[in-house]
Amino acid sequence: MAEKAEVVFVDGVRTPFGRAGEKGMYWNTRADDLVVKAMVGLLERNPTVPGDRIDDVAIAATTQTGDQGLTLGRTAALLAGLPKSVPGFAIDRMCAGAMTSVTTLGSAIGFGAYDLAIAGGVEHMGRHPMGFGVDPNPRFLAERLVGEDALVMGATAERIHDRFPAYTRERSDRYALRSQQKIAAAYEAGHIQADLVPVAIRSDAGWGLATRDEALRPDTTLEGLATLKTPFRPHGRITAGNASGLNDGATACLLASSSAAKELGLGVKMKMVGFAFAGVEPEVMGLGPVPSTEKALRKAGLSITDIGLFELNEAFAVQVISFLDHFGIDDDDPKVNEYGGSIAIGHPLASSGVRLMNQLAHQFTQHPEVRYGLTAMCIGLGQGGTVIWENPHYNRKAK
Ligand SMILES: CC(C)(COP(=O)(O)OP(=O)(O)OC[C@H]1O[C@@H](n2cnc3c(N)ncnc32)[C@H](O)[C@@H]1OP(=O)(O)O)[C@@H](O)C(=O)NCCC(=O)NCCS
Repeated sequence: MAEKAEVVFVDGVRTPFGRAGEKGMYWNTRADDLVVKAMVGLLERNPTVPGDRIDDVAIAATTQTGDQGLTLGRTAALLAGLPKSVPGFAIDRMCAGAMTSVTTLGSAIGFGAYDLAIAGGVEHMGRHPMGFGVDPNPRFLAERLVGEDALVMGATAERIHDRFPAYTRERSDRYALRSQQKIAAAYEAGHIQADLVPVAIRSDAGWGLATRDEALRPDTTLEGLATLKTPFRPHGRITAGNASGLNDGATACLLASSSAAKELGLGVKMKMVGFAFAGVEPEVMGLGPVPSTEKALRKAGLSITDIGLFELNEAFAVQVISFLDHFGIDDDDPKVNEYGGSIAIGHPLASSGVRLMNQLAHQFTQHPEVRYGLTAMCIGLGQGGTVIWENPHYNRKAK
């Protein structure tokens, strides 16, 4: 019988996130090379990990064709130089791909089947534009299973504004402005660079090195945001300024059982407490993290007030606001997205889950007074995902 184990997040890294499209820094870089780069960076940072002890590799992507196809976990493992004995597979849960890689492999470790595993995700939205090549079953519309615009994420966010008139465009813009300001401050303080793996890039100008997120807009102002068009609806409220953008990037993390981490002398950045996924109406998919968080808290025997740090994916400002409002947390509460979020950093769909975890892990080192934190995100077609983590640096007496 396999023996149940405690699951720990040993380390996580990511590539800098690029702007998708011909002008973006990764236009000439393959998607699989991005995630391989992240994995190699992760292994180099943890040289005591014997490659042949890694039990599995799960890599997520939303569009699994071309350089994001071919069972990414396995191809990335081979390309990253892991022994051929290490297996791998691909995961898809749209935006929560990397999060699902973590919960899937974390579950295998918790069950006692695995000791060490690599989880991550990649999305090259330049080479694989959102929704490209999809073929939704006609029954969705014929049987009114979902509304016509449920697959257009910006339209689903407009519907949250419709449903809750108190969430005005100005409130969304204010939230977005703070996200830009917080990431600028986090870079200034060196909180972000620590977990970035630089990527060699090629453009018409020659070779270069990506060391910083490309889509940041530190000069954002409220006045500037107010002038932006609303591409998803005339006189709407969602703009390029208060939504996450279209980005390229990859993430990877190392998970272990606490006994394997101890045996191999690996550090522990976070302990996995529990997780949950939940479904909501696809037309308001951004509300998904509310029920997934309630479920994860219930299963963990915790309440929202036990959570001292939140890393929420900012698909759209309004859907983060809906989460905060539901749980009675202020829009500008310092517990939430201390280093900014996807609105500023970017959201290469299936990679973002591990980016949230990297940031939470870094914040845990800065906040020994906090015992529990959570990472949560909304997911296309009406879902939410939440993972609750415990801070190994927690000190009851710290302030
Ligand atoms: C909203 C969206 C359609 C905008 O796409 P885009 O038009 O290519 O975005 P851009 O970056 O070119 O920005 C559009 C304009 O807003 C401006 N802008 C963007 N952010 C700004 C900011 N913070 N401050 C000032 N101006 C800003 C840009 O400069 C640009 O201006 P221009 O038209 O004069 O060049 C796209 O980002 C999108 O679809 N986002 C959602 C992604 C998504 O659904 N993800 C999944 C979540 S579940």
